Amino acid sequence: MAGTSAPSLAWRLEKTGHVDSTSDLVGLRAREGAPEGLVIWAESQEKGRGRLGRSWISPPGCGLYFSVLLRPPVPGEQLASLSLVTAVAMAEGLSGACGMEIGLKWPNDLRIEGKKVGGILLDFVPEGGKQPAVVAGIGINLRTPLGGFPPQFAKQTTSLEGAGRRLPEESELIGGLLERFDQWYRTFLDSGFEPVRQRWEALCDGIGSQVSVPLAGGTAAGKVAGIDAAGRLLLDTGGGKLLSVDAGEIIES
Ligand code: BTN
Repeated sequence: MAGTSAPSLAWRLEKTGHVDSTSDLVGLRAREGAPEGLVIWAESQEKGRGRLGRSWISPPGCGLYFSVLLRPPVPGEQLASLSLVTAVAMAEGLSGACGMEIGLKWPNDLRIEGKKVGGILLDFVPEGGKQPAVVAGIGINLRTPLGGFPPQFAKQTTSLEGAGRRLPEESELIGGLLERFDQWYRTFLDSGFEPVRQRWEALCDGIGSQVSVPLAGGTAAGKVAGIDAAGRLLLDTGGGKLLSVDAGEIIES
């Protein structure tokens, strides 16, 4: 936004009970023309969705489940960067509320000591020829569910309480997260992705670590070098070569 600062978002927070998915609900409201700033926060979800087609287990009392509607006035190719904008804001908001270090794993996992404590799912809602609306869905593990996390994720997953952290009151927590979101969203609109990119790299807890990333045509392996100006993962594959990866999942060795 040239010449003027983006205004603060007027969040409109709607608290609800058991829903299929807060992101589906916000997507529906986007199609009905809701303005940006709508936030739907649910006690639990029946069909919580995660990245890469996974489910996000969302029992009552165990997590924070909310989705935010954005209508950013930026070119379409920059919309995907909003998942990293959201990740930076959530990491800072959680750190502030719980007094601890939150690390980031590309593209947008929130971690405590290398274990996932939250995640972000970005959906685009087509608007018939206009710029799509963006729904940022955020899930944060507050308490470990009875019976634990699904066995395939148990070792790499934790909750704030499981990590021995002070649990703030939930509405206070969500208020703090939305405040940081507003600040980073405006930074992105006013100054572009570069400040977000720098902050994301500073918060990333895996720079320099050896990883592999399954891709359509095989597996890429290398050291995490950072992210580029479009938010793609940069892998140092040796011999001075940097490979950029635009989607997928990092597997740590
Ligand atoms: C991930 O896989 O890491 C992203 C998880 C995102 C889960 C949140 S919970 C609130 C919102 N509603 C959904 O159905 N998914 C997101």
